[in-house]
Amino acid sequence: MERTFLAIKPDGVQRGLVGEIIGRFEAKGFKLVGMKLMTASRELAEQHYGVHKERPFFAGLVDFITSGPIVAMVWEGDGVVASARKMIGATNPLNSEPGTIRGDLAVNVGRNIIHGSDAVETAQQEISLWFKEEELSAWTPSL
Ligand code: CMP
Repeated sequence: MERTFLAIKPDGVQRGLVGEIIGRFEAKGFKLVGMKLMTASRELAEQHYGVHKERPFFAGLVDFITSGPIVAMVWEGDGVVASARKMIGATNPLNSEPGTIRGDLAVNVGRNIIHGSDAVETAQQEISLWFKEEELSAWTPSL
């Protein structure tokens, strides 16, 4: 089953948007299989955003993402990687459609409240970077 890595960034946590964001993915029908509130180390953040290391915003991005707790999550479901990206909206919230998380809740590209893996392969790398296998719970509905 396809899985993706999502992280509610420090701004999303500090603005009290954790429940709102998680609710959207639950309501859509995706399954939460891993979640932890944690403050990322610089090493972890630099690895996670390694693809951006030559960008002028890299140092600020790492400073920000390590500045407070984030909610790191793994979600499961058919097509969850692309669907979550659609639900999250464009990277710059000013370009995100209304109805998306960033389109509804954010205005600044550096404070865009949530990260989502951009492809299935990236998701697998990000999940193994942020989670140990035993931190993930495979479950099936019993109701
Ligand atoms: P994210 O989806 O987590 O992936 C990379 C992040 O870099 C992105 O969200 C933005 O938060 C950040 N980012 C991209 N472009 C800029 C920019 N021009 N200035 C600051 N941060 C940026």
